Amino acid sequence: MTSSNKVDGVFRMRSLGTATPGISDQYADGKAAKVWQLYIGDTATRTSQYKNFLVNLLKENGVERVLDAACGTGVDSIMLIEQGFSLTSSDASDKMLKKAYKTRWERRKEPAFDSWCIEEGNWLTLDQDICVPEGGFDAVICMGNSFAHLPDFHGDQRDQRKCIENFYKLVRPGGIFIIDHRNYDYILTHGTAPSKNIYYNSTHIKDIKTSVLHVNNRPNLITLDYFMNVEGMDEFSECDQFRLSYYPHTLAGFTQLLRSAFGPDCKHSVYADFKSLEEEPEPSFYIHVIEK
Ligand SMILES: C[S@@+](CC[C@H](N)C(=O)[O-])C[C@H]1O[C@@H](n2cnc3c(N)ncnc32)[C@H](O)[C@@H]1O
Repeated sequence: MTSSNKVDGVFRMRSLGTATPGISDQYADGKAAKVWQLYIGDTATRTSQYKNFLVNLLKENGVERVLDAACGTGVDSIMLIEQGFSLTSSDASDKMLKKAYKTRWERRKEPAFDSWCIEEGNWLTLDQDICVPEGGFDAVICMGNSFAHLPDFHGDQRDQRKCIENFYKLVRPGGIFIIDHRNYDYILTHGTAPSKNIYYNSTHIKDIKTSVLHVNNRPNLITLDYFMNVEGMDEFSECDQFRLSYYPHTLAGFTQLLRSAFGPDCKHSVYADFKSLEEEPEPSFYIHVIEK
């Protein structure tokens, strides 16, 4: 990556205009989906960053049935199936799901992959979009900076609260919910993301340009323009640039959001790049683990 993540535009507006992306599928043009594997980098290297943490956490909590509610191309679901968990994987983007379906088909002779349930599902209506096992899932995960894709059009986080309530409904009593977001506190303070990134470390990422949109003087949307090096890879030549937008969740704000659904006294732990907060004071991601 070159001199990436510089804030190259700060827009201040009183209200959101029509140029703002909707709750619609940001991956619909297929560009990001097509280069997603390149963007992730080597899958085994990526998941090795948190595989032990996640698998141990799930096992310690007696988890068997997992819902990966933002499975994308399936990178974490596949790792968890290989580790013996029973997976339901959902995502709002059929372009992203295409790769997950392909993997399931290619590995259909392995019983664990043959019974892998993949469904199109939007967090806003997730409880109606997918099949839920009796009593709920032992664990619901939403990882890879996915939740931040949900914007806040109304300025009161009502859609975000609705989605967290849906996740809450899908976790069985005693089950766990694991969700993460980038360290937006750092990004908003410094105008750049921390240089490390536990999830997205591809050598094909050339540059990332960051813009922050303020609404009523509060940061409301961060847009990242990704520039990929796809030289010599004709199949990706149309996808060397893509754009994704995120709501900048602060650690305190996101904690509040979670507790609005799970209750103020719920058991809630926060990890910094899958380590303790003391061990990693400037993480690239915060990971929340919350018990129902
Ligand atoms: C940053 S990608 C991460 C995918 C995968 N977890 C990974 O780490 O590679 C975010 C994913 O969230 C999905 N997503 C965004 N908004 C969604 C929504 N409202 N409901 C369900 N999925 C959504 C996108 O389609 C995309 O696949």
